[in-house]
Amino acid sequence: MSEELDRKPIDDLLARASSAISGAGNLDSLERERVRFLGRKGEITSLLRSIGDLPKEKRPAFGDSINEVKEQIQKLHDQRKAFLSRDEGDGDFCMGDPTLPGRRMISGGRHVLQKVLAELTNIFFGMGYSLAEGPDVELDYYNFEALNFPVDHPSRDTQDTFYINKDILLRTQTSPVQIRYMEKHTPPLRIIAPGRVYRNESPDPSHAPEFHQMEGLYVDRNVSLADLRNDVTHFVHAFFGPEAKVRFRPHFFPFTEPSAEADMTCFVCRGSGCPICGRTGWIEIAGAGMVHPHVFRYAGYDPDAYTGFAFGLGLDRLAMLKYGIDDIRRLLANDTRFLRQFWGETGLEVLE
Ligand code: DAH
Repeated sequence: MSEELDRKPIDDLLARASSAISGAGNLDSLERERVRFLGRKGEITSLLRSIGDLPKEKRPAFGDSINEVKEQIQKLHDQRKAFLSRDEGDGDFCMGDPTLPGRRMISGGRHVLQKVLAELTNIFFGMGYSLAEGPDVELDYYNFEALNFPVDHPSRDTQDTFYINKDILLRTQTSPVQIRYMEKHTPPLRIIAPGRVYRNESPDPSHAPEFHQMEGLYVDRNVSLADLRNDVTHFVHAFFGPEAKVRFRPHFFPFTEPSAEADMTCFVCRGSGCPICGRTGWIEIAGAGMVHPHVFRYAGYDPDAYTGFAFGLGLDRLAMLKYGIDDIRRLLANDTRFLRQFWGETGLEVLE
């Protein structure tokens, strides 16, 4: 007789128990398998009884092996039981009525401002612009001084600035990104810089202490007002539709010369005059102009070598105009009852 322990009956038992347990389709048949293998009169018990037939020295090893297998079978049983209870049990794991219609999953969606921003960046990327950014907490130097706002000049007062100390403030416009970008790059350059801006204004339907702008800047040799007009007009047509007309009115900004404000024909009355456009037929959409030579000097460019144009768009205003939103504060309130109308069916709509 071989000295080796004959494990065959034990291994066979484990194999049969394991397939019977995993094949049990409900708790009742699982219980029958448990009794068959692990019960007091089950197969494990009868195998243990057969120990008496073995020579004495082999009995302890055989007993150990059976106990090991018993534990394994117990474990398989417990796992299967937990699994079957999920489907059959009452309470938390109840599967419910599978014929009922599914519950609608509520997903979030893009904020309407993000949607507008995505549309605008697509339009400007198509014209060769790339993206630039600057900090919200800005130096007075970039927000004002290098943009040709002289110290103590009244033009600074128009911006209702939140100062952190005498040199540091919350930027009142995205124009400082022009200087930051020019300091680090040489022309030709063509950038847009969207971002949040801050002004100490009392909130009302058309004013909020924080809002959003998008700066545009194009610098090269021989850039002209005609180029500015071309790009702004292209953007208006792409964003509001080709029937909109664009006009430029002379204006003043310290960092551009000449400066202008761009208007487009009111999309509600198409130019005949209505309450939306204050009966003028025109709606203001941008500040713009040719970059002032002083600004080039601050940025380290030679104003005799380069010319450029800049423009600034109010993103909140564009969103309000395009989607008929009557109060800028809705854009900051994070009220999903308002915001969800822009989410589309799934909230995950892809902008082409
Ligand atoms: N920064 C100006 C403002 O907030 C808007 C603006 C006007 C930006 C003219 C420009 C520009 O780039 O050329 O009122």
